[in-house]
Amino acid sequence: MSRIVVENVEAGYGSVRVLHGVSVHVDSGETVALLGTNGNGKSTLINCIMGIVVPTAGTIALETDDGQTIDLVGRSPQEVVELGISLVPEGRRLFPLLTVEENLMLGAFRSTARARIAANLEFSFEAFPVLGQRRRQLAGSMSGGEQQMLAIARALMSEPRVLLVDEPSVGLAPILVSRVIAKIRELKTERSLTVLMAEQNFNQAIKIADRGYIIVHGDIAFAAASAAELAENEMVKQYYLGV
Ligand SMILES: Nc1ncnc2c1ncn2[C@@H]1O[C@H](COP(=O)(O)OP(=O)(O)O)[C@@H](O)[C@H]1O
Ligand SMILES: [Mg+2]
Repeated sequence: MSRIVVENVEAGYGSVRVLHGVSVHVDSGETVALLGTNGNGKSTLINCIMGIVVPTAGTIALETDDGQTIDLVGRSPQEVVELGISLVPEGRRLFPLLTVEENLMLGAFRSTARARIAANLEFSFEAFPVLGQRRRQLAGSMSGGEQQMLAIARALMSEPRVLLVDEPSVGLAPILVSRVIAKIRELKTERSLTVLMAEQNFNQAIKIADRGYIIVHGDIAFAAASAAELAENEMVKQYYLGV
């Protein structure tokens, strides 16, 4: 297992600053929710960890169980995947004209996982039977919920220790959201993952989160030590839970 430590990260696009000194950490084996409504910087932060967006200040470290601290800033997304961190991107980003199985294979490029493609495919089909039944179907012809499951399964093909999940609930009917969220919890336990999940669906996210952060305009507005503390927070009640 692994721990992610983000400290004072600033990032943006061109002259637009989006993150203004964000500090968050995800301990080994935790599920941490990064909560915030649209446009507050959730994806930017996740993409900074993945090496897709490069921070202009601050540090991002991966601390491994064998005591190493690895600096992630400046690494390419491929290098970050090699280190055992995997992303389920916002909007799923599948290849719609490739089959389910081909999409899964594309998740397996991490060198340590390449040797175990068959076993990992089998694991995917066990975890998500529908993917096995539809392995030759084009990804783009699957339903929204199935596509989200495929995106999660693809991310697991690299055998990550850390899973970053960016808004898995987007575009899904409520019943499917519940199913996807429950599946993330189940997989986390089975594969001993450390999970950081960006969500704007507070009710769903706090079902599986050990604790969480609320990000507002690129700042951490509230850091909660437990899911209960999140649910009881006045700001959350007022703006996000509609209480
Ligand atoms: N590629 C990009 N180029 C320019 N601005 C961007 C880009 N991606 C996101 N932004 C801007 O950064 C801000 C934060 O976006 P984002 O991190 O996607 O928020 P969230 O994931 O919380 O919805 C928004 O104002 C958004 O318009
Ligand atoms: Mg986003």
